[in-house]
Amino acid sequence: MSEHKDEVLLKVNKVYNPPQRVLEKVHITAEEFDRMYEQSIKDPEGFWAKLAEEELHWFKKWDKVREWEFPEYKWFIGGKLNITYNCLDRHVKNGKRNKVAYIYTNEDNQEIKITYGELLELVNKIANGLKSLGVRKGDRVVIYMPLVIEQLATMLACARIGAVHSVVYAGFSANALRMRIEDAKARVVVTSTWTKRRGKKIDLKSVVDEAVDGLEFVENIIVLQREGDEFELEEREIDFYELIKDQSSECEPEVMDAEDPLFILYTSGSTGKPKGVLHTVGGYNLYTHVTTKYVFDIHEDDIYWCTADPGWITGHSYMVYGPLSVGVTSVIAEGAPDYPDPGRWWSIVEKYRVNIFYTAPTAIRLFMKYGEEWPNKYDLSSLRILGSVGEPINPEAWIWYYEVIGKKQCSIVDTWWQTETGGHMITTVPAYPQKPGKAGKPFWGVEADVVDREGYSEETNKVGYLIIKQPWPSALRTCWGEPERFEKYWTEIDHYYFAGDLATKDEDGYIMILGRADDVINVSGHRIGTAEVESALVSHPAVAEAAVIGKPHDVKGESIKAFIILKQGHEPNETLIKDLKMHVRHELGSLAVPDEIEFVEKLPKTRSGKIMRRVLKARELGLPLGDISTLED
Ligand code: WTA
Repeated sequence: MSEHKDEVLLKVNKVYNPPQRVLEKVHITAEEFDRMYEQSIKDPEGFWAKLAEEELHWFKKWDKVREWEFPEYKWFIGGKLNITYNCLDRHVKNGKRNKVAYIYTNEDNQEIKITYGELLELVNKIANGLKSLGVRKGDRVVIYMPLVIEQLATMLACARIGAVHSVVYAGFSANALRMRIEDAKARVVVTSTWTKRRGKKIDLKSVVDEAVDGLEFVENIIVLQREGDEFELEEREIDFYELIKDQSSECEPEVMDAEDPLFILYTSGSTGKPKGVLHTVGGYNLYTHVTTKYVFDIHEDDIYWCTADPGWITGHSYMVYGPLSVGVTSVIAEGAPDYPDPGRWWSIVEKYRVNIFYTAPTAIRLFMKYGEEWPNKYDLSSLRILGSVGEPINPEAWIWYYEVIGKKQCSIVDTWWQTETGGHMITTVPAYPQKPGKAGKPFWGVEADVVDREGYSEETNKVGYLIIKQPWPSALRTCWGEPERFEKYWTEIDHYYFAGDLATKDEDGYIMILGRADDVINVSGHRIGTAEVESALVSHPAVAEAAVIGKPHDVKGESIKAFIILKQGHEPNETLIKDLKMHVRHELGSLAVPDEIEFVEKLPKTRSGKIMRRVLKARELGLPLGDISTLED
């Protein structure tokens, strides 16, 4: 940053009012938002029932809006719907058959456009293909594919027939994929041969081969072959287009109960293996629809671009279900943000006249490093709303986003939410005043607070735990096969949803998220459990013990550092470091590979033998050690 520190500080404490051109368009003003917020807390049932009726199509209306028997809750009990009907059929029936649903592009600047009508037909063909393999309502389908239209269509095809999809990010290793396939007992795995990143082909098929090896319950593997591929398919493997080519393009949507499962998505917790977060159809459809419409202020002729990957929750809620339910045209881009050059994303914004752009702070910081000259080469004047998600956005990055990308003509929405929450929880809507680095206010139906360990509200601007006081429509319903882990969310601080984040609340009620309160590391907006990385390291023959911490990193937000005690007879050297990194890549995937590995003789532990990562971290960063009364020696 060229600017003087004081100047940045001044800007940080400034309130940014929404630009006139944003205000002229908005669906709701700040006052309307506030009024509706009040209603949503006072009468959640009446509030959500009204929106459910106005915004979605139901085959049958619900009998009861919400049932809350601690710790469980249900929404729209007895209601029948299919999310794909809301995402596709109703638009096609209402004159939007020829409206573009997705514009796909990639590093080679290829372009594929698919309309709502065509997408519905593709989804139906895949749905019929899945049915022909015996996939039925409730069966699990794992999707391990790159960001291509067929990927999104496969998710929708599952939802069409009531199969539960579990998408696994295509950067995960064979072992991580296998764990997810096994845990969900997937009947079918859908994959593709490769993806391309920075001009290099990344093989996906061999990862799947390794992941399903010996798993007999996996009946079929559907393989999307890409340009130039000629794979010899084995016995249980079927070519994607071979499977769907003779299928009918009509498929009646399965009549789903509002509380039937829609998908499982695995995410890291502070202990043990990843949790399979389960979302159900009705509440999720409504909440993602409403947040997409109002937080991004989407209008009929807008072009919307979310740069996430469907392997994460952001992709589920804000690339697939939310935008399609609202009926907008979305851009999707396979490949790296800065390849073939750092102007790539901005050239896409210019080319497609993108109005709403949603990305992660790590990407913004990456572009800050490349410098303003890259975005300045392109016409970004179509942009109106800029979104941020995945990790706290530091004020410098916020201001850069606002000034260099938004030209002070856009509203920024810094959306705090989680895999578990299904949709945006804390943010400002575009008509609201914004503060750099502060996510903002709770969205409709979200009763948020910052509290101490006992659940009492913290004083203004004091750090505490972020909690939500009552269930909202898209709250996770359970953790797949592990109901006790679900309960923990609501019992950690009694009767409140415990988000696991530290936060403060200011005099205007704006919430600032400071980061995780638990042993979860956020690398480039991706959640990684210290326990996962540690157990991957310990599974290496040279490692006796391992402890992992997150360290501040100027682009990634956090990077991983591992401290390792070697077993007798192993030499600490560069070759071993390389080997350990390779090992973690193989066990978990490249996301989880530590940037730094340090060999140590001893790890700080409590008397009961638990590693005190907090102490390691404080020592590493030169911070006060804090309370070390429980330290062993
Ligand atoms: C962090 C991603 C600050 C937070 C949607 C949360 C954020 C975790 C923000 C969830 C934000 C997400 N400001 N922190 N706007 N958005 N986080 O499940 O620590 O991949 O608990 O969901 O990301 O990550 P997840």
